[in-house]
Amino acid sequence: MRKNILAPSILAADFRHLEDDILEAAGAGAKYLHIDVMDGTFVPSISFGMPVIESIRPVTDCVFDVHLMVQQPERYIETFAKCGADSITVHAEATNHLHRVIHQIKACGCKAGAALNPSTPLSVLDYVLEDLDMVLIMTVNPGFGGQAYIPQMTGKIRTLRKQAISLGLPLDIQVDGGIKESTIRAVLEAGANVCVAGSAVFGGNTRQNAEKLLAVMEEYKSYF
Ligand code: DX5
Ligand code: ZN
Repeated sequence: MRKNILAPSILAADFRHLEDDILEAAGAGAKYLHIDVMDGTFVPSISFGMPVIESIRPVTDCVFDVHLMVQQPERYIETFAKCGADSITVHAEATNHLHRVIHQIKACGCKAGAALNPSTPLSVLDYVLEDLDMVLIMTVNPGFGGQAYIPQMTGKIRTLRKQAISLGLPLDIQVDGGIKESTIRAVLEAGANVCVAGSAVFGGNTRQNAEKLLAVMEEYKSYF
């Protein structure tokens, strides 16, 4: 049975009270913490980097799921691993050497993920799928929190899950962007099992928000 995992994105947290927000989300039962690193080149915005990750590492045992929206991520893999990343996801569009970066991540002892922008076809992963622990299907164009889910991504998730099943791969399929109570069922039904949620967790009462999403995810726990 596949595990459904909620990954609250701290991009939407209140940075004045980051520790409290993390503890609320983890206390509700979130097992991952999604950490969005933006470089101002691959995506328009700049978020935060190594010092922030290092400083929150002692706060929780949650899996640190680092999403690098960074051009040429191969320059930083070892550094993020040392800062406390457990899983590192790079964008297929951000490197000329995706296969090499995936193995660089694994050599650091981290789980390896590859992310695809909405317009990037699944076929770019054909020859690395077996090496990946996770594929991140971006369900918005990366760069900002609070955007609307792109409905065409449901079919993309479904196709990837079918492909993983037919290859016998225990692949985690992560979705990121616009995931909230009104969209989460569609992605779970299509085959996603790691759901990132920023504003839907940290906007308002964090604990209650996370508990609501986790309850829906529980309903779908044996969907595949
Ligand atoms: C977008 C980031 C997301 C973002 C999601 O580029 O990768 O992780 O925090 O935010 P919401 O859940 O608010 O769409
Ligand atoms: Zn993200």
